[in-house]
Amino acid sequence: MPRRTALITGVTGQDGSYLAELLLAKDYRVFGVVRQSSVFNTGRIDHLFEKVDSSRFDYVRGDLTDGSSLGRLLRLIKPDEIYHLGAQSHVQVSFEIPEYTADADGLGLVRLLEGVRELDLRPRIYNACSSEMFGSAPPPQDETSPLQPCSPYAAAKVFAYHLARVYRSGYGTWIANGILFNHESPRRGERFVTRKITRAAARIKLGLQDELVLGNLSALRDWGYAPEYVDAMWRMLQASEPGDFVIATGESHSVQEFVEATFALAGLDWRRYVRTDPAYLRPVEVDALRGDASLARRVLGWQPCVNFPELVRIMWEADLQRERILLEGTAAHAAAAVP
Ligand code: NAP
Ligand code: GDD
Repeated sequence: MPRRTALITGVTGQDGSYLAELLLAKDYRVFGVVRQSSVFNTGRIDHLFEKVDSSRFDYVRGDLTDGSSLGRLLRLIKPDEIYHLGAQSHVQVSFEIPEYTADADGLGLVRLLEGVRELDLRPRIYNACSSEMFGSAPPPQDETSPLQPCSPYAAAKVFAYHLARVYRSGYGTWIANGILFNHESPRRGERFVTRKITRAAARIKLGLQDELVLGNLSALRDWGYAPEYVDAMWRMLQASEPGDFVIATGESHSVQEFVEATFALAGLDWRRYVRTDPAYLRPVEVDALRGDASLARRVLGWQPCVNFPELVRIMWEADLQRERILLEGTAAHAAAAVP
């Protein structure tokens, strides 16, 4: 069978980097869309550029807000599978830049799907939806739960979810909606709450930081491990027909529980270091998310293995190691700078 070609939007993000690794291990040829930035933004995939030949892994410049760039790269690559992960993915930030969020997260999919249609391509497409779409709908949430978005981000994802279904039924586009609940890892962005907590605990432990300032400690989230969730994305595109799938652990924990578990690993009393500030509260909060992934288990054979304490441990250990290396590096640089 000839090697399949995959295109990943959002390849520089947490999920994109794990997915690129997974697809390369499965012998795909992988292209990732990288957007222009004034600083290097390929930190999560630089190891792949170093290890993998450019005939197997390469990037193409593009932006979800620029339809012409998407058309050009679709014409160039003619992918067999498209994993559409690119998005302005921070919920609180979406209240500050709602128009851009709607453009990138909502209209970005329109541009991609129209590009595919204009070129008469027939790829299988994965669309990254979100458990945030359920918003105020009570847990447990599954594929039949009402969509009650509570942020510009979630509203844009609901638009993209419906758009995918319209193209599926109207044009026969092969597109799957992955409704993933929160998934985390050492590669998680530092402004999402889990990484903010594990990084701060490591820095406090090493004497680099005095306190951790958070918002709502009582929100409940269903936190899984990102490498397992990108495997679910791949499985969705190998199914006999496109569908909508919830991916979740089925367990939820509060932000405070995440704090407690991390600080316990650090051997620190969290109450001495954590304070709350209304600056981190959202205009509308999603109180409780807990997913039911029975359909994915049945149809895709997918189920998570890494549990909550294990996830916290993985992230805490990675941040402690990273901060130690940075500290030693800084000390070495400081010593070298002494005349
Ligand atoms: P992430 O780390 O924030 O990565 C987002 C990616 O999108 C980055 O590569 C980013 O590029 C890119 N991007 C942003 N705006 C873009 C634009 N205008 N044009 C092209 N690329 C753009 O997100 P993630 O955690 O990997 O999540 C992947 C997808 O799954 C997102 O769509 C997210 O909304 C969705 N999702 C995530 C979770 C979760 O818990 N992680 C759960 C449900 C759904 P830069 O690196 O240059 O910023
Ligand atoms: N980011 C952040 N920073 N969140 C905080 C903080 C803080 O200082 N303090 C408390 N929180 C609370 C938020 O109010 C929210 O209830 C919870 O921690 C999780 O926040 P995030 O880690 O920012 O994630 P999210 O749940 O809003 O969104 C993530 O998961 C979605 C899937 O449910 C993102 O990855 C989205 O892109 C994704 O769709």
